[in-house]
Amino acid sequence: MEGLAEARRRLARAERVAVLTGAGISKPSGIPTFRDAEGLWRNFNPLEYATPEAYAKDPEKVWAWYAWRIQKVRQAQPNPAHLALVELERRVLERGGRFLLVTQNVDGLHALAGSQNLVELHGNILRARCEACGKRFPLPEAFTPPPVCPGCGRRARPDVVWFGELLPEGAWEKAEKAFAQADFALVVGTSAEVEPAASLGRIAFASGAYLVEVNPEPTPLTPLAHLSLRMGAVEGMAALL
Ligand code: APR
Repeated sequence: MEGLAEARRRLARAERVAVLTGAGISKPSGIPTFRDAEGLWRNFNPLEYATPEAYAKDPEKVWAWYAWRIQKVRQAQPNPAHLALVELERRVLERGGRFLLVTQNVDGLHALAGSQNLVELHGNILRARCEACGKRFPLPEAFTPPPVCPGCGRRARPDVVWFGELLPEGAWEKAEKAFAQADFALVVGTSAEVEPAASLGRIAFASGAYLVEVNPEPTPLTPLAHLSLRMGAVEGMAALL
């Protein structure tokens, strides 16, 4: 496969690598995706669980859903695709290059795997944020939702970005800069449908980066990608490294 050999050659020499991941990379770890065949949004209406309005209307219902997702995340371990990205980061940094991993995932598996230069664009499901004072804190292993702020005692919400909300301060700027400056951009396991994350691949392509996508399905990014590996993240990362 000519394209794969070319991509491997370029990745082995890349000096500025930017990676975007989505729910697909965590599927092999047993965490459900959102939009593909058995994705969460098939059984749960995002408007009832993942918007500020839904939470304001029924915080108990939203917290019960997050508590269910959290227990799945706590049972999950990083898979070989997460670990391959840790190895890729090590190689790029070792040769004096720059590396940034931007994830849409809130499962914390990249950090658990050991990724260092990491931006969690949509927050982290294992953290809560006080609705009154804004304090962020890790959720205890066992908790009865809704958690209360250890600082001021008021109710806390999941520290994730819901539809219609702003991304964490500075996260987008850092991600956009890395993709605009990248000479190699890798997009793994995302349907590339949710903005602004979905624009990162296009930004890299427009700036001249070599763009590679890893996804068993085609996405809106596929026509732009120099190489689109039609396979799972574990197989795709193994092929690239
Ligand atoms: N390896 C790689 N990709 C996979 C795998 C796999 N083993 N299995 C499925 N996929 C792909 C699917 O083909 C799909 O394109 O993963 C993608 C998952 O897409 P989504 O479920 O839409 O997840 P994501 O792109 O991360 O969603 C973005 O939307 O709901 C919001 O905030 C939520 O962060 C999420 C955002």
